[in-house]
Amino acid sequence: MSAPALFNESAARVMQQCDELGRITDEPGRLTRTFHSPAMQLANGLVGTWMRAAGLEVWDDAAFNLFGRWPSARGRARTLLLGSHLDTVRDAGKYDGPLGVLVALAALEHVKSQGLPLPFHVEVVGFSDEEGVRYQTTYLGSRALAGRLKKTDLALIQEKGIEKARRKASEFLAYAEVHIEQGPVLEARDLALGVVTAIASQARIRLAFSGVAGHAGTTPMALRRDALCGAAEFIVAVEKAPAGQTVATVGMMQVSPGASNVIPGRVELSLDVRDQSEARRGRLCAKLLKIAERLAAQRNLTLEWKIVQETPAVPCDKRLTQLMRQAVGRHEREVIALPSGAGHDGAEIAHLCPMTMLFVRCQGGISHNPAESVQTSDVAKSIAALADFIILLAAREQGAV
Ligand code: HGY
Ligand code: MN
Ligand code: MN
Repeated sequence: MSAPALFNESAARVMQQCDELGRITDEPGRLTRTFHSPAMQLANGLVGTWMRAAGLEVWDDAAFNLFGRWPSARGRARTLLLGSHLDTVRDAGKYDGPLGVLVALAALEHVKSQGLPLPFHVEVVGFSDEEGVRYQTTYLGSRALAGRLKKTDLALIQEKGIEKARRKASEFLAYAEVHIEQGPVLEARDLALGVVTAIASQARIRLAFSGVAGHAGTTPMALRRDALCGAAEFIVAVEKAPAGQTVATVGMMQVSPGASNVIPGRVELSLDVRDQSEARRGRLCAKLLKIAERLAAQRNLTLEWKIVQETPAVPCDKRLTQLMRQAVGRHEREVIALPSGAGHDGAEIAHLCPMTMLFVRCQGGISHNPAESVQTSDVAKSIAALADFIILLAAREQGAV
């Protein structure tokens, strides 16, 4: 089933916009946009222009989240929030985040063009820090909006006052996020769209092994306290330890002092652990801590272990997801529901209001990689399905009045 032709034009425009946004980067030669960086400010400016052109009222909040609002005639109505994030990982693909913001804008433009009076305000949001690359703490923008920042977050970041972005739960009716699947399931089932059941629980940990830096030429192997060898053994253990669908990743490593003729005295690592079950995720973190402690003791190294952030698994709202299933069913031969191994701002916004997510197929499930890609026809379907979701929600709300 293909989306109605009028959505193909919007999809082509969304693809061009993703291309244009994909050229706005803090690191020439690759796509990297981090919290409140010069590139992020340019990206907010460009998307804000597109929002204004669509007739929305546009602003940045105190946490540098970008908003575009289309008010309902009903002044006291609540707000349907649509969107995703505009920040990226390092050397990113151009769809993880921005596609969800631009599909939301295109779907809203379509609903607006139908002249349908909506019983709720609609806001499209571009969150400022879903990836957490700059400060290693994810969701700064969406947690600021939901009032879920911790003192430790505020102490960590240079930008002051972001907590002022907080808004009340009573303002919001629902949140819907469109995002690339970043996995292989939709492609394997030859489906463009799928609805999301829940967002995985994740832990971000920073650890360090410290030994003694020494001369690479004069220190016998048996007398070394080599921090990098300890880290290397730990990294292989991280690869072997997970069972079932739990996943664990060391994505960053800092070797000091970092010279070819010096035995590494200290190595800092990141550790990312995910599972749909918080208990399973916690058990694996505890197991990996024990392994790190054992390796440090065996190698006469010291170990530092800091949990930077833990987010619980967050289920999507059943009633909203039923509406999303209905909307997808108008454009897909079958509607499947799948969990998200990736984190999303929806995990935080779910603390403000009911949340639902729509996945779009991406080539080979590749993401967090410049090879990330989507098909224009799948984007057209996602715009059509999200527009239908908005209309179905309006009908539900009208019926509820
Ligand atoms: O890491 C994640 O799951 C997301 O891309 N921030
Ligand atoms: Mn994302
Ligand atoms: Mn991502």
